[in-house]
Amino acid sequence: MKHVIDSTDLTVEEIDGILKLAQDIIDDKEAYSEACKGKKLATLFFEPSTRTRLSFESAMMELGGNVLGFSSADSSSATKGESVGDTTRVVSCYADIIAMRHPKEGAPMRASMVSGVPIINAGDGGHNHPTQTLTDLLTILREKGRLDNFTIGLCGDLKFGRTVHSLIKALSRYKNIKFILIAPKELRVPEYIISEVLEAKNIPYEEVESMEEVMSELDVLYMTRVQKERFFNEADYVRLKDTYILDGKKLKNAKSDLAILHPLPRVNEISVEIDDDPRACYFRQVMNGKFVRMALMLTLLKANGAKLNLSADK
Ligand code: CP
Repeated sequence: MKHVIDSTDLTVEEIDGILKLAQDIIDDKEAYSEACKGKKLATLFFEPSTRTRLSFESAMMELGGNVLGFSSADSSSATKGESVGDTTRVVSCYADIIAMRHPKEGAPMRASMVSGVPIINAGDGGHNHPTQTLTDLLTILREKGRLDNFTIGLCGDLKFGRTVHSLIKALSRYKNIKFILIAPKELRVPEYIISEVLEAKNIPYEEVESMEEVMSELDVLYMTRVQKERFFNEADYVRLKDTYILDGKKLKNAKSDLAILHPLPRVNEISVEIDDDPRACYFRQVMNGKFVRMALMLTLLKANGAKLNLSADK
């Protein structure tokens, strides 16, 4: 059984195949509109979400399938003490594929050990968010035309931001990428990512605190929200939450073809005045998220032997 718990559970070839399939779906949506006829996706969201849950559900509907699930732990039997393992065993009797978000790091991994159907990690604590990474890769590919030879600045809460951790791991497998990690010292990328990913692979990186000093070097700027829900102390959150606010002044020295990404939700780290700048890609990124999840579900269902309703040439 193939599951996607971490962005490195997919090989580079598999990721490239999913991105190619997503672009094919974008170009010819009709050809895929019944591909998952008779299939069911369960969305088990133990933690809040707008984009990830709704894009998964919309993706399965656009593939001709159906969805079931819950959007909060409060409306599931987790409130009665049911374990993630038992919930997964039960739901895998009802659905063909499961997308799970959980506040506890490792919960989707636990689910994958007992599930009879593919599990997709839709975000676990401050750990990983592989489908956001696929979304980010598709966005970079569509905006820049390549997934190699660029400098990316990741800015904001690099400690708790699971999208950042997954994206660094995924991009570390492509060629000639320089990482500039822009964060206050309290919110730097965890040490294991620096040592086990960047340093272990001899990948160039810098850690800086000022966005302005590196802006002119960047081809991609990945902004993130300070993750209020992961702080133990409200005072620390209040002190750090407005460290970076991207506005027109800060973009003065930026490249004319900079791609500005953000996994969203945004609080106030990108001023709304930037939204109409052609370099702001974050709402296009949202749309890419639906198509890449369509491609991922098709790929996983196929890999696990499901019969899909596709024309012979697809
Ligand atoms: N990017 C992302 O994971 O958004 P949601 O929390 O709304 O799903």
